[in-house]
Amino acid sequence: TGAERHPARGLDFRPVEPNTLDAVVVPEGYRQAVVIRWGDPLFPDAPAFDFDRQTAAAQARQFGYNCDFAALLPLDPTGRTNLLVTNHEYTGEPFMFRGYDEANPTRGQVEVAWAAHGLSVLRVDQDRDGRLTPRFSPRNRRITATTPFELRGPAAGSDLLKTGADPTGTRVLGTLNNCAGGVTPWGTVLSGEENFNQYFAATGDPRETRYGIKDNPTTRKWERFDERFDLAREPNEANRFGWVVELDPHDPDSTPVKHTALGRFKHECANIRIAGDGRVVAYSGDDERFEYIYKFISRKKVRRGGGRSVRRHNMTLLDEGTLYVARFTGDSPPAEIDGSGRLPSDGRFDGRGEWVPLASGTRSFVPGMTAEEVYVFTRLAGDRVGATKMDRPEDIQTHPHTGVVYCALSNNVDRGKEGKEGATEPNPRVDNKHGQVLELTERGGDALALSFSWNLMLVCGDPASPDTYFAGYDKSRVSPISSPDNVAFDRHGNLWISSDSGGALGGLNDGLYAVPVAGRERGHLTAFLTVPRGAETCGPVIGERVVTVCVQHPGEVDGASADNPASHWPDGGDSQPRPSVVAVWREGRRIGE
Ligand code: FEO
Ligand code: CA
Ligand code: CA
Repeated sequence: TGAERHPARGLDFRPVEPNTLDAVVVPEGYRQAVVIRWGDPLFPDAPAFDFDRQTAAAQARQFGYNCDFAALLPLDPTGRTNLLVTNHEYTGEPFMFRGYDEANPTRGQVEVAWAAHGLSVLRVDQDRDGRLTPRFSPRNRRITATTPFELRGPAAGSDLLKTGADPTGTRVLGTLNNCAGGVTPWGTVLSGEENFNQYFAATGDPRETRYGIKDNPTTRKWERFDERFDLAREPNEANRFGWVVELDPHDPDSTPVKHTALGRFKHECANIRIAGDGRVVAYSGDDERFEYIYKFISRKKVRRGGGRSVRRHNMTLLDEGTLYVARFTGDSPPAEIDGSGRLPSDGRFDGRGEWVPLASGTRSFVPGMTAEEVYVFTRLAGDRVGATKMDRPEDIQTHPHTGVVYCALSNNVDRGKEGKEGATEPNPRVDNKHGQVLELTERGGDALALSFSWNLMLVCGDPASPDTYFAGYDKSRVSPISSPDNVAFDRHGNLWISSDSGGALGGLNDGLYAVPVAGRERGHLTAFLTVPRGAETCGPVIGERVVTVCVQHPGEVDGASADNPASHWPDGGDSQPRPSVVAVWREGRRIGE
């Protein structure tokens, strides 16, 4: 594919060849630079980063670790000034500290890790070519594992959310494991608390186990330094994580919110679509093997226009509404879905589905569960109504022109294993290492519809392999891709996909890919960039003049650590790897044109 130019509008770049380089690789003619790295100062008083002398106080004023989601919010009509809002999903202590002793972390190391989680807000200025420069600004902000949040919505104040430190059940310290997210039409940022299970020492309560809270002690051992992480002492603290968070980055003094109406699970993301009557719909995936896809429909309607009071109203839209979970059915005979990934005789993995209501305010639709229980133990509610077990639902985005919903299903190597569910039409491969991308069309194109049709647009992997599918496109002309994670659209309506394969495609680096979803070029997927060794590509933002991606966990490969780094990106030499945001642009030309 190396020499061929892409005929689709906005995708005219020479695809990047698959590689294992310790570098960000971009198409010929494009430029790239790191915008901000782990440890870079966000405030004039922040100390310069010093890998060997880290402190929590410094980290709380610097860019956090393992950036995942990113949003680029223009502050002016030209997009010259912007806010870059970034999630810091998790910390990798063995990569952050030389000689790290996993059995005995120090209080200092644990407090650095708390300060390295959360979110960052950073002003970035864009020049005429698209290049981004970070700035100190009064809006710059760090949110960490100890920043106060307000719990809102139908489960706020529930006994299930009360703790010794918070008898109201409405105030939580911090956000953890913020993975993907979304930008709302009203200019705020949503962020999904994903694998929060790993931070809490388990008691063995089956409701904890259902969420993957199993370890005691935990790997990080935070429970030694703050008893709220020990569920034997503070049984409800874990119930206060696993929510969709909303942050108003325009107001640096605002208290961020956790929205209980969207349910509690390993939220990958939440993305909003405005329905015809002004109500809003939020889609969210629960990223774990055999978990579900959810949809929320608000009771209230969006108000248009900018300004603080409009934004304040719109920030209540996710407080009241109805939460649904998806049930998929296939239209091909089950015998034709043999787990190999071969297409059934109708030539498509496709079918219909319905949104099954779980709860609305104080009303539960799930037999044997109160509404509060549905919101706090949403996975159990999905189990009871027979929701469809999917292959790791990751990012979900609505196409800006057609309203079709795109969901990345990352992979599921447990499908078909003994005691586990086998292949189903939306999840058609056993031992699914490479994932698929699902298109979901709401009935009549109406975001409020309670039924839909669906089909798999991509079944990922090595295109030379018979178990892959690229919307029927000539597979000799597409790039290999494994484990789709984040999805985004450019202004032409092309779908961009970032990958997190952990080397599943023969050890090749992950990347950012683009593919038309309509017309003759539908399915013609090509690689726009690849990221360094051990990194995943995430948080893509596709602008007219700049593409940004987060390069998360460079050098995170088996056996590597700060004492034995597997990557020296981005600083080179014998430096330690640093998770960073990268911008890609062209001088004097638009992206892909
Ligand atoms: Fe944090 Fe689902 O990726
Ligand atoms: Ca079919
Ligand atoms: Ca992700």
